[in-house]
Amino acid sequence: MMIKDTDFIDLPVFIKGKVRNVYDLGDSLLMIVTDRISAFDVVFDELIPDKGKVLSSISAFWFDFTKDIIPNHVISTDPKDYPMGLDKFEKELKGRSMLVKKVDMLPAECIVRGYLEGSALKEYKANGTVGGIKMPEGMVQGDKLPEPLFTPSTKEETGHDINITYDQLKELLGEEDATALHDAAIALYNKVSEFALTKGLILADTKFEFGKIDGKLVVADEMFTPDSSRFWDVNDYEPGHAQKSFDKQYLREWLETLDWDKTYPAPTLPEEVIKKTSEKYKECYSRITGKEIE
Ligand SMILES: Nc1ncnc2c1ncn2[C@@H]1O[C@H](COP(=O)(O)OP(=O)(O)OP(=O)(O)O)[C@@H](O)[C@H]1O
Ligand SMILES: [Mg+2]
Repeated sequence: MMIKDTDFIDLPVFIKGKVRNVYDLGDSLLMIVTDRISAFDVVFDELIPDKGKVLSSISAFWFDFTKDIIPNHVISTDPKDYPMGLDKFEKELKGRSMLVKKVDMLPAECIVRGYLEGSALKEYKANGTVGGIKMPEGMVQGDKLPEPLFTPSTKEETGHDINITYDQLKELLGEEDATALHDAAIALYNKVSEFALTKGLILADTKFEFGKIDGKLVVADEMFTPDSSRFWDVNDYEPGHAQKSFDKQYLREWLETLDWDKTYPAPTLPEEVIKKTSEKYKECYSRITGKEIE
C-alpha cells in the first residue's frame, strides 16, 4: 500500500510538510511519513513505494540507538498503542508512523558537519572558514573536516534558514542550553557516523531539532534519515567534486537530463526512476539496520 495523503484521519493537523503529515493529539503528536518525494523543494505527483516506511523506520532505529546519549520524543511506533481510535488504521500506519511527545521546540537547527559540502563549502570558498572557524587551506569539495563541526542555523518561517555561529546560538538560547545542544549534537554525530562507516556509509552531515519536556532536553523531529542527512557510499567516495547522494542520486541525475527549470510543476516520473529510487531507499534501510522493510 502506498500513502499519498492521510485524509482518512479526522483530527487537527499540526503540520503538513512536503513529505510528512503530523496530527495534533493534545500532549502528543502523530507523525506519519507518506510516500511523497520532493527534489529541489518541489513535490512530485508520483509516489515512491516504501519510502515512507524507510524514512520512519530509519528514524525509529536511530532514536533507539542514541537514547543513551540523549532522551527523545518517541512514545511508540506500534499503531496498536495509538490513542483516539487511530489504532483502527493499523494497516495504513504500520511502519510509517510514530506517536511522539509534543515538546517545546528550541528555535534552532543543529547541524553537524564532518565533510565539506553544501553551505559549508560555499562559506569555505568565500572565507576559508566553516561556521566561522578557520579551516586548513587547499581543501576541496567533499573533503573530511579536521574534526566534526557544530554549525547551527535559525529556523525561519519563510525562506532559507540563516547560518549562525556557536556564539550567536549562545546569545539566542543562553549559554547553558547552547552548550548542551552542542555537546549532544557532536556526541550523536560521532556515535552514528562511526556506526554508519562499518556499514559502508559516510555520514557527511546531519541536522537535529531539539526541544524540552518539563525543562529537560530531548531530541525530536526526525533523526539521521536521508532527508535530514547526507549519506555517501564509501566505495564511491572521491573528494574534488559532488558526491553521489545515497538515496536521491538516481532521481537527481535523471532530472538533470530534462529541460526542467526546477520550479512547480514537477515532471512526471517514469516507472524506471520510481523503481530505482525505491530500491535505493530500501537499500539505505537494510544497510543501516541489517533488516529488510516489511
Ligand atoms: N515532538 C515534537 N513536538 C513539537 N513539534 C515537533 C516535534 N517534532 C517535530 N516537530 C516540529 O514539527 C514540524 C515538522 O514539520 P515537517 O518537517 O514535516 O515540515 P516542514 O519542516 O514544514 O517542511 P519540510 O517538508 O520541508 O521538512 C517541524 O516544525 C518540527 O520542528
Ligand atoms: Mg522539516
